Amino acid sequence: MTTATRASSYYRTGEHPQPEFELKRLREQALMFWPKELRNFQQLGLRPDWDVLDAGAGPGFITEQLLSTVPQGTVTALELDEGLLAQARSHLAPHEGGRLRLIQGSITQAPLPDAQFDLALARLVLQHLADPAQALAELNRLVRPGGRLVVADADDAMWGSVHPAIPGLDGVLATRRRHQAKRGGNRYVGRAMPAMMRAAGFEQITVESVAISSDELGMDALAGHLDVQARMSLLVREGAIAEEQISRVQARAEEFLATPDASFVLLMFLYSGVKQDGGQR
Ligand SMILES: C[S@@+](CC[C@H](N)C(=O)[O-])C[C@H]1O[C@@H](n2cnc3c(N)ncnc32)[C@H](O)[C@@H]1O
Repeated sequence: MTTATRASSYYRTGEHPQPEFELKRLREQALMFWPKELRNFQQLGLRPDWDVLDAGAGPGFITEQLLSTVPQGTVTALELDEGLLAQARSHLAPHEGGRLRLIQGSITQAPLPDAQFDLALARLVLQHLADPAQALAELNRLVRPGGRLVVADADDAMWGSVHPAIPGLDGVLATRRRHQAKRGGNRYVGRAMPAMMRAAGFEQITVESVAISSDELGMDALAGHLDVQARMSLLVREGAIAEEQISRVQARAEEFLATPDASFVLLMFLYSGVKQDGGQR
């Protein structure tokens, strides 16, 4: 599919060569970052009765965390991909219809009325969009005046660190970045967020970094993120990178994982803003 016709650079259901691996990776990533993300939400004034939108909710692992974070509020999960939404439904079914709504649709044109959320979260979604500004404008429409937007996303120049170095890893990450850009995404989207959020009608912009590390969680907990073969399997299938190159880096990554005192840190950024009381610009 060409850039022009893709709604998102993220894999659609049926596209990922190793869907079980990807699902497990998303789950682990959600659960490892969440405690520190939650601390940030609490600092931003999150209350137990807030109505929250989880935009681009995927299989719903963060949706589930949000549900227990707002026990007197509601959570709406919006997701483009019907297969991922079905995954969310399969483990969140007991909650649906009460405080939880699961809705199929796009963050750039949501089938939802204006100004009904106290908080909208777009987590690891905007890096997949050809037009993130359109998504921010739509999120501005959906949030109540005085309500918050949090964009949790990456900036590939500050993805984290490995010590000691894994030879060849930087090259693989650069190829992934170019591949995602060809599919319409942008792994540098983080640095553009503050200006784009202001342009979309948000103010009081703050930026926080959130780190997870092998030193806090243990190397086994993060090891899936260094399974280069599984993570890059779509790139290999699409001819973006040679299998031999991936095998070489995989071997170096396995050496790294077996190195005593190795350290692995992954970073994410939380960009937050408040919707101006006057509404959209
Ligand atoms: C990397 S996953 C992140 C899922 C979840 N937010 C999390 O943090 O675990 C990106 C998700 O964004 C969804 N997505 C991509 N483009 C979208 C769009 N235009 N509207 C709604 N969801 C979208 C993808 O289908 C996928 O589920």
